[in-house]
Parts: sequence; C-alpha cells; structure tokens
Amino acid sequence: MPVLSEELRNRIRAEFPKYPDKRAVTLPALHIVHDALRMVSPAAIVEIAELLELHPSEVSDTMTFYGFFHDKTPLGKRRVWVCRSISCMLRGGEELLAGLCNRLGVKPGQTTADGSVTLEYAECLGACEGAPCMLVNDECHMNLTEDSAAELIRK
Ligand code: FES
Repeated sequence: MPVLSEELRNRIRAEFPKYPDKRAVTLPALHIVHDALRMVSPAAIVEIAELLELHPSEVSDTMTFYGFFHDKTPLGKRRVWVCRSISCMLRGGEELLAGLCNRLGVKPGQTTADGSVTLEYAECLGACEGAPCMLVNDECHMNLTEDSAAELIRK
C-alpha cells in the first residue's frame, strides 16, 4: 500500500511546471509530504524519488541536510520552536523552554503523549527585538513569559 495518496502525488506533480527539472522539486515535495503526514518516512522517500525520477538516496541526502524534517516519529499537531540563541537566552529563553518542557512533560524534540504538541529548540528566529520568542507552526510570538507561552500553546 503506497504511503503517498494520489492527492499528495498530484500536489507534487503540480510543482513540476514551476521548476526547471524534477530534481528541483525535491524540497517542495518534502515539504508537501511533511506537512500532510507530519513526517517523511523512508517509504515516503522512496515514493518521492520515484515521482522525481531520482534515487532515494538523493532525496534522503537533501532531506537530512536540514534538521527540519522528521523521519521516525510524526510531529504533533502543533510544532513549537523556542529560540535558544543569544538575545532570547539573555532574556529568559532557556527558562522558557525548561518551563514548557515541565508543563508539557516532554524534552526538546519530543511530542506530548496526546500528539498535540512537538516542542523543539531553534536557533535565532530573526525576531531578536521580541526576545524571548517562539514559533507555533509558522507563527512567531514575541516577548513571551512562561505563562503567556503556555497559554498560546493551550489555545
Ligand atoms: S536570538 Fe532569538 S530571535 Fe534572535
């Protein structure tokens, strides 16, 4: 049974005209699959490679270059990145991350038992003026306290 649905395959195929060749669709395809399945499994890599007419190792090489993609366990519904770079660290980013770990009962990189949140640390999010900050999925939240961060995640 294929990992990629026909709908996902069609979404990847729809990227082909936007790029000079199928190889250039590797990253968009990885994002499409990662968004939909919350991970890119080895079986999904093989199927992406077939669609792009590449060897699976080429897709895997691209994917593993980035720390962004999960390949073993699916991400939670919400992916939360707490910045741990210098500006955020100086303004309580480490304490923020430790507090969220406590509240959620996870370590950085883990997903809550109910699958609702994956908590990770990030390097500079480019929003140093609002330190400490974090991303919740694609949305950046700044000037956080442990309470305001926990409330955001709860919502
Ligand atoms: S150091 Fe945290 S956003 Fe730049």
